[in-house]
Amino acid sequence: MRDFLSIADLTRNDLELLLQRARDIKRDNPMPSLAGKHLALVFQKPSLRTRVSFEVGMRQLGGEALYLTSAEVGMGVREPIKDVARVLSRYVDVIAARTFAQTDIEELAEHASVPVINALSDDEHPCQALADLLTLQEKLEDLRGVTLAYVGDGNNVAASLALGASLLGMSFHIATPPGYELAAHFIRLASENAAQSGAQLLQTNDPCEAVANADAVYTDVWASMGQESERETRRAAFQAYQINADLLSHARRRPLIMHDLPAHRGEEITDDVFESDRSVIFDQAENRLHAQKAVLHRLLVGA
Ligand code: CP
Ligand code: NVA
Repeated sequence: MRDFLSIADLTRNDLELLLQRARDIKRDNPMPSLAGKHLALVFQKPSLRTRVSFEVGMRQLGGEALYLTSAEVGMGVREPIKDVARVLSRYVDVIAARTFAQTDIEELAEHASVPVINALSDDEHPCQALADLLTLQEKLEDLRGVTLAYVGDGNNVAASLALGASLLGMSFHIATPPGYELAAHFIRLASENAAQSGAQLLQTNDPCEAVANADAVYTDVWASMGQESERETRRAAFQAYQINADLLSHARRRPLIMHDLPAHRGEEITDDVFESDRSVIFDQAENRLHAQKAVLHRLLVGA
C-alpha cells in the first residue's frame, strides 16, 4: 500500500489490517512512532474533522503537520499539480489532499515520491469510510450479515462506504432520488466485492425498502461542497429521503444512526433522530482520529 486514494485500491486483507491497527491504536495509545515526520495537508475545500484529526493524530504520533489552502498553494492554478507534488516531496514525508477532482489527487500521487492520502474528493471519502467501518465494528462486532442502509445522495461518502461495506461482507442498501444514484463504476465495483464476500448490494429509489432490514442507517448532506448552486433543486428532489421517525418506522429493528458531518438538521436528518440514543455520529467523528493514525502508520512505518 503506497497511497490511500480509494477504497477500491484495497484488498479485504488491507482493509481488515487497517481496522485492526486503528483498534489497537485507539486502545493502547502507542508511543510516538512518527517523530521527525511531516504531513502536508493540501486542502481546496473547507474542513473541521479531517483537518483537525489529521493534525492532532500526526502530533500524537510524534510528527508535525502543516495546513495549506488554495490561497497559499493554488494547486493547478498557481503552478501545475505535478510541480506541487515534486516540491512537497522534497520537504514532507506524506501528503493528504482534499480536492474537487479525484484525478487531481491521482496526479499528485503519480508525481509525488511520498505517499498521498485522499482527504476527500468529489468521488470518494475513504478516510471517512474507514472511521465508519471502525465504528460499526465497535458497535456490532462481526460485520458479516450486517446491513448498512444509506439514504440520500449517491455521493463521495456513499461511494467509499459501498466499496468498504461490500469488501467486508456487509450488505449495502442505498436509496437515492432518481438521477442521484451512485456512479455506475462504483456500483459495478461494489457488486463485484459483494459477489466475492457474500454480501448484498441493493440500489433503489425507495427509502423504505432500503431501511427495512437495516442494522444502521446512514445519511449525508444533500448538496456537497462545490454543489452550493444546486442547493434548492436538490432540497426539492430529496424531500422524501430525510431520515426521520416516519422513515425509521419502516425499519424492522432500531438501527444505529450515522452521519459523517457536517449535518443539516431539518434537511437530510431531523434533530430528534440526530440526537437519539441510537446515534453514533460523534463516535464516527472521534474514530476519524484513530483510523487516520492507522493509515499514517501503515504508509510511513509499514505493516
Ligand atoms: N466528515 C468530514 O470529512 O468533515 P470535514 O469536512 O469537516 O473534514
Ligand atoms: N459529501 C460531503 C461530505 C462532507 C464531509 C461533501 O463532499 O461536501
